[in-house]
Amino acid sequence: MAEPLLATAGLVKRYGGVVAVDHVTLAVERGHLHAVIGPNGAGKSTLIGLLSGEMAPGAGTIRFNGHDVTRLHVHRRARLGLARSFQVTSIFHSFGVLANVVLAVQAHAGHSFRFWRPASRDPALVEPALAALERVGLAERRHDPAATLSHGERRQLELAMALAGDPAMLLLDEPMAGMGPEDGRRMVALLESLKGERTILLVEHDMDAVFQLADRISVLVYGAVIASGRPDDIRADAEVRRAYLGEAA
Ligand SMILES: Nc1ncnc2c1ncn2[C@@H]1O[C@H](COP(=O)(O)OP(=O)(O)O)[C@@H](O)[C@H]1O
Ligand SMILES: [Mg+2]
Repeated sequence: MAEPLLATAGLVKRYGGVVAVDHVTLAVERGHLHAVIGPNGAGKSTLIGLLSGEMAPGAGTIRFNGHDVTRLHVHRRARLGLARSFQVTSIFHSFGVLANVVLAVQAHAGHSFRFWRPASRDPALVEPALAALERVGLAERRHDPAATLSHGERRQLELAMALAGDPAMLLLDEPMAGMGPEDGRRMVALLESLKGERTILLVEHDMDAVFQLADRISVLVYGAVIASGRPDDIRADAEVRRAYLGEAA
């Protein structure tokens, strides 16, 4: 079998006495939407932070697309195609929607760009930015200030900003949090449309969305993976039901 796109081995992150991520060994296959679920405080956000490079693990390794990225900075990982949406990319609210995505494209392109040229008119930046906005369904709002977007649209913009770098893999931490049912459905449809095209690691509380979207599910409890497998197997797993799904239902 081909090497997984992303693989962690024995990943550990401690905060003082708390073991937030406890020897996590996880493989995400290329093209899969792999969901990570678990109760509040299970270590899901910490795991995403370790994968994106915002924090360093106390132990363990992270391999991405044939590279050991364990000690690489966020930007180096993004350059390799591992991108996180939400939190790393911050929206400039007074800027237009398109300008925000143009900046994300420029940030991703890094030094190879000529900064003396106005970014907003450089087709090499504007074209991929527009494509990303079209992808998430925000192209019509491109000239509006980001501050005028609804909560759901802001989440779409953040996703467009992550897509701007054309990543092979997206890390998403609760993209549906705080959304109403309509925006939630739109986000599920968007993620469904990205499936196969991008590898996605999705942390999400909405179990209907998770079981609808995921190719694989890993369950994190107290920082440790207690189960990993196909949605049907996870649904049937007695330990998972006891530790989490029973509680959620
Ligand atoms: N910056 C931090 N400092 C200390 N403890 C933290 C910090 N961030 C998270 N934790 C703790 O680590 C554990 C995992 O948190 P987190 O990764 O946010 O879980 P989840 O995203 O699954 O809710 C929790 O016990 C949390 O209180
Ligand atoms: Mg979290």
